[in-house]
Amino acid sequence: MIIVTHNQHKYMEYEEIFSRKGIELEWFNYEYPELQSENLNEIVEFSLKAVSKILNRPFFLEDTGLFIDSLNGFPGPYSSYVQEKIGNPGILKLMEGKVDRRSRFISIIGYYDGKNFHYFEGILNGYISDSIRGSNGFGYDPIFIPENGERTLAEMSLVEKNSISHRRKALEKFMEFLKNSMESIK
Ligand code: IMP
Repeated sequence: MIIVTHNQHKYMEYEEIFSRKGIELEWFNYEYPELQSENLNEIVEFSLKAVSKILNRPFFLEDTGLFIDSLNGFPGPYSSYVQEKIGNPGILKLMEGKVDRRSRFISIIGYYDGKNFHYFEGILNGYISDSIRGSNGFGYDPIFIPENGERTLAEMSLVEKNSISHRRKALEKFMEFLKNSMESIK
C-alpha cells in the first residue's frame, strides 16, 4: 500500500500499525496541494484528485483537523495554518479562562483504488490541556488530552497513541474495506 504524505510523523504512525499487521507500506513523500475549505471531505477529495493525476497506482492520503467546541470548531480545517502561525501557545491563549475545553481530532483517509475514491473517518474526543506537556508526537499532541485520560498525546508513546488515535480509527475502517474488497474478488 502507498501512503502519500509530506509529514514524517504521520508516516511513522501508519508504518507502526501496518508493520504489526504484516502489510508493507511504501512512503511517497510528496507535498500535494490542499484546498482551503470549511469541509475536510472536500479537502481530501481535492488532494486525491491532484495526486491521482501524477501517481497512476492505488494510494491513500489523510487530512486531520482539531475541532475545539468553545471556539465553534476552530481551527478545524485550518489546523495546519493555525499551527504554523500561532502554534500551541496561541491555542492555549485563545482558551484562557474557558471552562469548556472539549475538543476532538477528526481524520479523514482518502483512498484511490485506481478508479474510484473512498473515504474513512476516525474521531478522537478529548480536552485541551492547561499547559504544553510532553515531547512525543507532533502538532497539537502536547495540548490534547484524550477523554478518560490525564496525559496529553505527547506524553504517550507512539504505540499508545496509535492504540486510541483518530488516525488508527480511520485506518481500521479502511483496512476493513480493503479486506471486504479482497474477499469479494476471490
Ligand atoms: P494535516 O492533516 O497534515 O493537514 O494536519 C493539520 C494540522 O494538524 C497540522 O498542523 C498537523 O501538525 C496537525 N495534526 C495532524 N494530525 C495530528 C495528530 O495526530 N496529532 C496532533 N496534531 C496533528
